Amino acid sequence: MDPVAFNRRSLALPLLLAALVSLGVLVFSEFSHERLYEAGAYARRSLGLQELTREIQTLVLDAETAQRGYVLTGRAEYLEPYKLAVQKLSDRMRQLQALVPASASEQLQRADRIGLLIDTRMAEIETALALHRERGPEAALRLEQTDVGKETMDELRAELQRFTAHERAHAGALWTLWEQDILYSRFGMALSSAFNLFLLGAVYLLALRDARLREQANRQLLEHKAELERTVRERTAELSRAYRHLQSVQETEKSRLARDIHDELGAILVSAKMDAAWVQQHLSALEPEISATLRRLLLTLDEGVQIKRRLIEDLRPTLLDNLGLGAAIEWQTSEVCQRAGLRAHISVPEEEPEWPSEVAIALFRIVQEALTNIVRYARARQVWVELTLERQGVRLSIRDDGIGIGAEVKTEPLSHGILGMRERVMGLGGTFRIETPAEGGTRIEAFVPVVQGDIETTPLSARLRRRKTMPAGGHAVIRNRRAANRRGCGAPIRRAGVRLRPS
Ligand SMILES: Nc1ncnc2c1ncn2[C@@H]1O[C@H](COP(=O)(O)OP(=O)(O)OP(=O)(O)O)[C@@H](O)[C@H]1O
Ligand SMILES: [Mg+2]
Repeated sequence: MDPVAFNRRSLALPLLLAALVSLGVLVFSEFSHERLYEAGAYARRSLGLQELTREIQTLVLDAETAQRGYVLTGRAEYLEPYKLAVQKLSDRMRQLQALVPASASEQLQRADRIGLLIDTRMAEIETALALHRERGPEAALRLEQTDVGKETMDELRAELQRFTAHERAHAGALWTLWEQDILYSRFGMALSSAFNLFLLGAVYLLALRDARLREQANRQLLEHKAELERTVRERTAELSRAYRHLQSVQETEKSRLARDIHDELGAILVSAKMDAAWVQQHLSALEPEISATLRRLLLTLDEGVQIKRRLIEDLRPTLLDNLGLGAAIEWQTSEVCQRAGLRAHISVPEEEPEWPSEVAIALFRIVQEALTNIVRYARARQVWVELTLERQGVRLSIRDDGIGIGAEVKTEPLSHGILGMRERVMGLGGTFRIETPAEGGTRIEAFVPVVQGDIETTPLSARLRRRKTMPAGGHAVIRNRRAANRRGCGAPIRRAGVRLRPS
């Protein structure tokens, strides 16, 4: 089962239960509050009623006592409590009837009966008083000695007691109910609190479980990511190896082609040129026309030789093999810039180690491609080429002051030139950047790491350069610069202004 769905369901059920219990407790406590309120109101009313019944009874007794005192003594002041009772009784009876709720029909009937009994009793008292007034004290005393008033009074007392007892019983029942409610409410609260505690515990456990699951999922994701990264690294390494192999096969093939052109086509051209020169020597005096044609033939052969050299140089920059990376870059840059009318600023190290051949050829090809691009697209006037030795490797930078390169080409190069440069550098485990610097133009930077063990640490002792000052005519074949220096030919060659040419 999906753990997230399970979590949701297992969390929803206790939450629903908790909500139901809380709702139940709330409703119950509201209900019990209502009952408490009712019981309170009833208790207040009941106390009022009991007080009233007591007062009514007292008033009737006062009236009775006053009447007796008056009959016995004939003194008018004894009648004061009677008059007061007459005044108050009707008011108290109204209050009593008003306090009895309409729903308590039994009590209402009792109240009516009490009213009637009071009226009867008061009428009896009034009769005794009237008798006293009209016939004298003896007649009133005789009436007093009969049981007429006692019966009414007993009945009234009993009715008042029943009334009060009913009120007490009802208030007591309400009170008991309310106490029950309080008990239930407390029980409900306790249950709800216990449930809430249980729920909190359950939520805590679920959260813990959820966190564990998430952690586990994260771990798996990280492992998966690491696995993927490992695979990508392996594949990249494989591709790099394959690319380097292809590059080296390509370069070997180019070298073989260059050698074949040099050895075979070169030999043919040289022997043809020698033959033509011989014929010209021997025929020049006799046949001026043929001599002119032979001169043209010699010029054509020279052109052929030039083309052969350029072809060979493009296929395999022999300067690279003979003079090293710095010199080859310098020569290439000077040549291209001279042809294209660009001002070149070249900076290469005075001394450099002998780089692994794939590093040297890769950097040289990058220079070639970058220069070709500058000539084709940049509309530049100046070019800066810099080769710097660093502790971890070698850095190459080529900059122009042209129109700059489009942003889309930098990030998504679809054409082969930039892609090839990048691939070459990446294939060697280096970094490649192409950017538009603040001062304008385009800047290409490649860094190739070189492991110390890969470098032959003997530094090159001197450099053959200054190609810019060399005249166009003549050339010297330099196979080994160190050998040339040992033989002391480097300086004389330069002094003679002879153009240095690779073999
Ligand atoms: N120095 C530069 N200045 C201005 N734009 C450049 C420069 N170098 C390259 N570009 C632009 O970048 C594009 C891609 O160059 P890239 O060398 O990859 O391909 P390309 O020269 O068009 O074709 P290919 O090199 O395969 O013959 C070019 O078409 C050009 O528009
Ligand atoms: Mg290009």
